[in-house]
Amino acid sequence: MSTTDDPSTEARLLEVLRSLRAVRRYAPTSVPDEVVQDVLEVGRWTGSGKNVQPWEMLVVRNRSSLRELATLSQFADHLAGASFAIALVMASPSHRLDAGRLAERLMLAAWCHGVGSCIGSIFPDENEAKAKGLLGVPDERDLRTTIAFGYPADADARRIRATPNIKTVLPSIGRKPLSSIAYLDRYGAPWSRRNAS
Ligand SMILES: Cc1cc2nc3c(=O)[nH]c(=O)nc-3n(C[C@H](O)[C@H](O)[C@H](O)COP(=O)(O)O)c2cc1C
Repeated sequence: MSTTDDPSTEARLLEVLRSLRAVRRYAPTSVPDEVVQDVLEVGRWTGSGKNVQPWEMLVVRNRSSLRELATLSQFADHLAGASFAIALVMASPSHRLDAGRLAERLMLAAWCHGVGSCIGSIFPDENEAKAKGLLGVPDERDLRTTIAFGYPADADARRIRATPNIKTVLPSIGRKPLSSIAYLDRYGAPWSRRNAS
């Protein structure tokens, strides 16, 4: 069973999924509204627990708001130079897994259009309150996650760390090997692919 009969399309889809990385430096080119619309549509179809859909997506285009949001976290400088951001307005803090699924989908949909992105987490509580005030979000909502979007500034924008702040905390841009994180049937028993018969 496949989503497509065309193996090259399948390979391309997998490559889009696998190649998504944080992009924190953006070209000045504006991302067109048609692309933003696609991103929001994909987001709208995200699955949530009991299909509650505990989210609203607030697109921020206003440059001074983007700059202000960038100050509301130690690690959100990149928001200032984004073409746009989406603030994930969640019904309550108990929907973090739903927020994670939504965030990843928005980022992948953007990446399908060649638009890079990176989460900017808003914290602590007082900064969340400031972000809500700035964007007119009701107090009772949860606003911990914003995502900055924009065309990558250059070919390296997917591979490097952007700001002095971030250098100190980011892990390597690589990943742990599958053999150390994937198991078969029993915790600790390494996953191994069976040979096709
Ligand atoms: C829950 C979560 C919160 C994150 N918050 C931030 C953030 O506040 N600022 C930031 O620059 N990156 C943030 N990131 C991006 C991670 O730093 C990034 O996914 C990780 O370093 C891997 O980067 P890579 O895919 O480019 O290798 C966040 C990612 C996740 C999943």
